[in-house]
Amino acid sequence: QHQQKVAVLGAAGGIGQPMSLLMKESPAISHLALYDIVNTPGVVADISHICTPAKVTSHQGPDDLKGALEGCAAVVIPAGVPRKPGMTRDDLFNTNASIVQTLTEACAQFCPKAIICIISNPVNSTVPIACEVYKKAGVFDPARILGVTTLDVVRAHTFVAETKGLNVEDVKVPVIGGHSGITILPLLSQTSPSVSFTDEEVDKLTDRIQNAGTEVVNAKAGSGSATLSMAYAGTKFVNSVLDALNGKQGVTECAFVQSDVCGTGYFAQPVELGPNGVKNALGYGKLSAYEEKKLEELIPELKKNIKKGEEFVLGK
Ligand code: APR
Repeated sequence: QHQQKVAVLGAAGGIGQPMSLLMKESPAISHLALYDIVNTPGVVADISHICTPAKVTSHQGPDDLKGALEGCAAVVIPAGVPRKPGMTRDDLFNTNASIVQTLTEACAQFCPKAIICIISNPVNSTVPIACEVYKKAGVFDPARILGVTTLDVVRAHTFVAETKGLNVEDVKVPVIGGHSGITILPLLSQTSPSVSFTDEEVDKLTDRIQNAGTEVVNAKAGSGSATLSMAYAGTKFVNSVLDALNGKQGVTECAFVQSDVCGTGYFAQPVELGPNGVKNALGYGKLSAYEEKKLEELIPELKKNIKKGEEFVLGK
């Protein structure tokens, strides 16, 4: 198995720290480059004492982005500000948009072939921002820029298993669309193993999966948004990306990627991963009438989010 260098941008944050911890245990990572604008040396000193093989290096401040990024096979970006009660993911837009723009400009320069995994919200807009940055830099490859929507899938598995009394490790539910509110569309009709839901269960589960982030924001009462479950989901996603880079066949994860499946330009869907990132975007198959309706409703919102990201880079 090849081992790879992976950078975490925003490594000292609420998501970045536990994700770096989990990634220190990844057998596919030989070098974990941790980057932030504050508190990086402390996080690195702490994590580097763990007795697993991955080397951990500290990179702080823009002058050290080059050192963090050069030679990376994958870069994961959780940098930004988190949501507070009463805020939507879209409210984060202005701050996080410029953070993602700056960081992906550096990625385009120092590791243009790396697979970029974007966690910073609003993902529906930050992924288009990254793509526009790469286009401007002349290094764009849509297969290599992915929005991490794994937490929606993780939540769908947990909530469906709870509702139906199933073993959570057996449950699979595709989640499509985007990564914010009504744009998140779990395809409960495609749950495996095959289960039947009442209309009321479908409505309740869909609503809970769409608003699960807000459940955490409210429970944290002002101290932030999901960090631990996001770190789990982000690590699962990066490990799949690395497995596929290392030649494993048939690795599939849901991700928000450039795709014209619904005329929106970008769409979250199951994607087959390969040595160069997305090998095949798999679309979404046959929908129930309920899902068709929800899909129709989400498209204008998703288009709006995408346009906002593109215009941030291109100007209006
Ligand atoms: N470059 C690198 N890191 C940055 C930058 C930057 N320009 N700006 C901020 N950061 C770092 C902060 O220093 C902090 O360590 O990003 C980290 C963010 O951590 P938190 O504030 O704890 O936020 P977190 O809960 O981790 O969420 C971060 O992920 O899910 C999304 O909505 C969430 O957009 C938010 C992001």
